[in-house]
Amino acid sequence: MKQLFKPHEAKEFCNNLQEVGFVPTMGALHNGHISLIHESQKHNRHTIVSIFLNPKQFNSPHDLQKYPVNLDEDLKILNELEVDAVFLPHEKDMYPDDYHYKITEDNFSQKLCGKTRPGHFDGVLTVVMKLLQIIRPDKAYFGEKDYQQLVLIENMVKAFFMDIEIIACPAVRDGKGLALSSRNQRLTAQGLKKAQIFAEKLKSIASLVELEKHLNANDILVDYLEENSGRRFAAVHIEDVRLIDNVPL
Ligand code: PAJ
Repeated sequence: MKQLFKPHEAKEFCNNLQEVGFVPTMGALHNGHISLIHESQKHNRHTIVSIFLNPKQFNSPHDLQKYPVNLDEDLKILNELEVDAVFLPHEKDMYPDDYHYKITEDNFSQKLCGKTRPGHFDGVLTVVMKLLQIIRPDKAYFGEKDYQQLVLIENMVKAFFMDIEIIACPAVRDGKGLALSSRNQRLTAQGLKKAQIFAEKLKSIASLVELEKHLNANDILVDYLEENSGRRFAAVHIEDVRLIDNVPL
């Protein structure tokens, strides 16, 4: 597995490859990420993964500081999966413009997570645009776990006439139905149980009012609970950790 650090190195490496699948991540890899990598390996000759903990998409410095980092373990996993290369850029190389240039979406990005995370989706769309320009994959893989992010990226690629196919992959869950997330690592055993209650009740309680009552009673602080376009979307805080999920109705 090749390790690439500089954008120009990654560009040169990927330029010489045909049929490239790309999986961008922020590291602390789990089976959700691995499912995207498997999907890419199934349908492309080459698979590139990036690990970049993008500071620009964290609206809270505390959240960035607490985000799990397991680079050695991540590299071991990627090596075993036999991906062609991992791109590990440094912040200063990703933002030579000091983040004066941004991709902004001013409609859907303001809803759901956008309401309480100002600037978050600017950070996501800008870094994904940069990564796609560097890797220039044929296909890029994103999880439905982050549904709003997925839709915004699909529409960005259309808006800018980019010749990249965005592939949506289903959310991978644990045995209790909790969507895997790097942030789950920050929960205590008790917090994890609450997170599993959140996932289970999100699916099983039909009324949003009842659902909110139930979550409150379990000390699960609701950021939003909304239904639109045939899906139910939720964000909650459990022990200072913000978790999101969505399920089809
Ligand atoms: P990260 O949270 O590391 O997730 C990387 C990719 O894995 C995203 O497409 C995400 O939707 C997907 N993913 C995470 N948990 C999943 C699960 N349980 N099942 C299936 N897929 C899952 O999302 C980001 O990083 C960043 O915003 C990024 C797109 C890399 C831009 O910085």
